Amino acid sequence: MADWSPQSWRDFPAAQQPDWPDAGALDRVLDELRALPPLVFAGEARSLTDSLADATEGRAFVLQAGDCAESFDRFSANSIRDKLKVILQMAVVLTYSSGVPTVKIGRIAGQFAKPRSAPIEAREGVELPSFRGDMVNDFVFDADARRPDPTRLLRAYNQSASTLNLLRAFAKGGFADLSRVHAWNLEFLDTSVEGRRYHALAAEIDRALRFMAACGIDLDSEHELHQVDFYTSHEALILGYEEALTRVDTLTDQWYDCSAHLVWIGERTHQLDGAHVEFHSGIENPLGVKVGPSATPDELLALCERLNPERRPGRITFVSRMGADRVVDALPPLLRAVRESDHPVLWICDPMHGNTFQHESGYKTRDFADVMREVHGYFAACDDAGVWPGGIHVELTGEDVTECLGGSTVIAGDDLEHRYESECDPRLNARQSLDLAFQTAELLRR
Ligand code: PEP
Ligand code: CO
Repeated sequence: MADWSPQSWRDFPAAQQPDWPDAGALDRVLDELRALPPLVFAGEARSLTDSLADATEGRAFVLQAGDCAESFDRFSANSIRDKLKVILQMAVVLTYSSGVPTVKIGRIAGQFAKPRSAPIEAREGVELPSFRGDMVNDFVFDADARRPDPTRLLRAYNQSASTLNLLRAFAKGGFADLSRVHAWNLEFLDTSVEGRRYHALAAEIDRALRFMAACGIDLDSEHELHQVDFYTSHEALILGYEEALTRVDTLTDQWYDCSAHLVWIGERTHQLDGAHVEFHSGIENPLGVKVGPSATPDELLALCERLNPERRPGRITFVSRMGADRVVDALPPLLRAVRESDHPVLWICDPMHGNTFQHESGYKTRDFADVMREVHGYFAACDDAGVWPGGIHVELTGEDVTECLGGSTVIAGDDLEHRYESECDPRLNARQSLDLAFQTAELLRR
């Protein structure tokens, strides 16, 4: 640790970094970013760590959700609002059923970079750099579009800033007031099974609020009822960008990556001797690490030692993404090894990334039934190992897209083409998201 600095990752092998064609241009952009204001504040990251510590100890449940990749082209106030609505709905469903607070974290305001399984994409004999997210290059398959362009880092920063600005207004400015619980339902949900179920639950909440008011409780003065804490997160993949936004907190003299409240290390970049682990080891933000089926107990314990030697609760969240077929076998030994080491770790379940497959139509998709099967397997594994099932991590959108198969209003293979908008992984639509929240709430209640 003595040798750590925001740039010390540069002495380690860094996986999944773009081949920037012009090093001078990249450096100029990074200098510009270093001079820009932080996007989040250290004190907010510390509050999130406290909430995650509660979740680690079984006193809260985490809902981390948003796009696989945010997009420059599909950026709009409405899409941010609708995503927030679905997340608030899911959170209310989870809290109401489980009786514990839901910690709300978006995959938003910075989720612009993607790890890829291959650096090159070939189509009909043409080979071009793979799409690495809007922060790096463009999705369109042509040579100019696919060339990594560092000015995109600035655009990602700016879009993150305006997204955060709107999220802060929604979270604190009345939109998230519990008395508006009915208004979070999206119009197209109103006639669906999930939408009706949601309205019934919202009506119960209304009744409870009226009851409290009738008992003489001054609801206006209870600020918890009128606003929410909403945190941001993304995979901290492009290390130059993260380094440029890493600042010393004047209150504590410690380093924080001020690009988001929580940052995570992906499944492809958590090598112990790699640059990503080095970078994350020195920042004080709460950290996520994706954990796939190839992880071993030794590897996870070494990550705990490296990233959280002081064993602070809330510091580390392991995001299990095993796949529906593997979770029941692969997860319990890992849960047990970490528990027995006495490292305080919050385990949450990403039921998306182990369940992606290519449909015969050519679309990358996931089956809602597999997603739910993994959630069930995760709850069973946690139960088995005596570990609190601390949360879920999902890719979703507030829009009525047709990217994942199944759900109560079934999306079939033929439907995928109707509204497939993701440039990366397939997301749950609002209906499927709400369905997942209701089913997860039932598991939690048990
Ligand atoms: C992701 O969360 O979009 C992702 C790429 O996940 P993983 O690192 O688990 O594959
Ligand atoms: Co994804």
